[in-house]
Amino acid sequence: MDDKKKEGRYSRIYKQLKDLLVLTDDPVARMASVCAVLHHKMDYYFWTGFYLLKDGKLIVGPYQGPVACQELEKGKGVCWAAVNSKAPVLVADVHAFVDHISCDSRSLSEITVPVFNGQGEIMAVFDVDSDKAASFTSVDQVALPEIMALIFSTE
Ligand code: SME
Repeated sequence: MDDKKKEGRYSRIYKQLKDLLVLTDDPVARMASVCAVLHHKMDYYFWTGFYLLKDGKLIVGPYQGPVACQELEKGKGVCWAAVNSKAPVLVADVHAFVDHISCDSRSLSEITVPVFNGQGEIMAVFDVDSDKAASFTSVDQVALPEIMALIFSTE
């Protein structure tokens, strides 16, 4: 999908999710809805989900796609990199990312985005894998944190 098409689609998804997520303040329910909407509307998403940061561990939460790793080895991989840098991590080629954790050999590129609560604490990581190389661009890197801000929003 080209960047222009992505921008239009993310903008429509943001509005749809804003209206949907306000119907509950439960973050896990909101995460489940975010996964379902994004996974089915973005054709380059192969695995779409959340890892919840609990007691210093990243444990799988709501997701769509093939069965994923239950818990991620501490400090390794693209999800922990988003926690440690407190910023999105974009990986064009997972094989070039030194300690990438592979849950499915079909995943070739990836983006991870930290999810913050209202106090600025990281509560989870949103992770998308694509089965094509270099699927994610600056458009995903800008749009996804805006969507993730809806998870703990009180507006
Ligand atoms: N690749 C991730 C692990 C999670 S799966 O992609 C679903 C990582 O390196 O942290």
